[in-house]
Amino acid sequence: MNIAVFDSGVGGMTVLHQIRKLLPNENFLYYADTAHLPYGEKPKDELKKYIFEAVDFLVAHEIKALVVACNTATSAAIEDLRKNYSIPIIGIEPAVKPAVIETEPKKKKVLVMATRTTLKEEKYHRLVERIDKHDLVDPLPMPKLVELAEAFDFDPEHVIPYLKEQLKPFDLTQYGTVVLGCTHFPIFKDIIEQIFPKGTHVIDGGLGTAMNLKRTLERLHQTGGGNGKIIFYKSGVKVEDSETLKHYADLLERLDTISGS
Ligand code: DGL
Repeated sequence: MNIAVFDSGVGGMTVLHQIRKLLPNENFLYYADTAHLPYGEKPKDELKKYIFEAVDFLVAHEIKALVVACNTATSAAIEDLRKNYSIPIIGIEPAVKPAVIETEPKKKKVLVMATRTTLKEEKYHRLVERIDKHDLVDPLPMPKLVELAEAFDFDPEHVIPYLKEQLKPFDLTQYGTVVLGCTHFPIFKDIIEQIFPKGTHVIDGGLGTAMNLKRTLERLHQTGGGNGKIIFYKSGVKVEDSETLKHYADLLERLDTISGS
């Protein structure tokens, strides 16, 4: 049986990339809900409708686990999904906890880049309230990075001016850790690292999510049976055109070349 990986678009591939490294003997259904992208600019109730449509589709395809490889979808719907489906469901949330733990002793701050919806949602606020006792965490929405990723535009000449513009109000030397709290953002990790002073740690929750999935499948004795094959869907339609498939393959290759990702 396949593992389903779900996102609004190509961002979930940053998680899929980690999962395939940890679990090479699995097959995957990758579902990008591009008809309703960007999730990060939409309210929770609207998102829930789209997310349930997508998960109904995936569950009908006999999957052994679902990875919600989207911080925004996780914050909007993970609890409701777990109530409604009996398969294991793994979500992703901004890696605020490890960031605060590693940054506090350095007397530095944490910058959390995510979507507007993630940063607005109660789930995020509860997380920060629980962990950020010394007011170290600053939020920053970065919607255009989602657009650039969806256009497969990784050209630093397009990405850097946007990053610089958004970061203008911040003193970058204050930050010890930058959290990439949207799965689209690790696609630009190498470029983001260039913008911050040397030594700033840029982290995301992709590997943690992959490890969580691995532990869950092992506990259920459900690992193996595949060879890394991926079938791609866009909002319920199988992706078969060679140009899009080539873009996906190139993106997975790009993720291989980004250090530490
Ligand atoms: N990749 C998604 C996330 O992790 C959101 C992108 C979007 O706005 O659709 O939050």
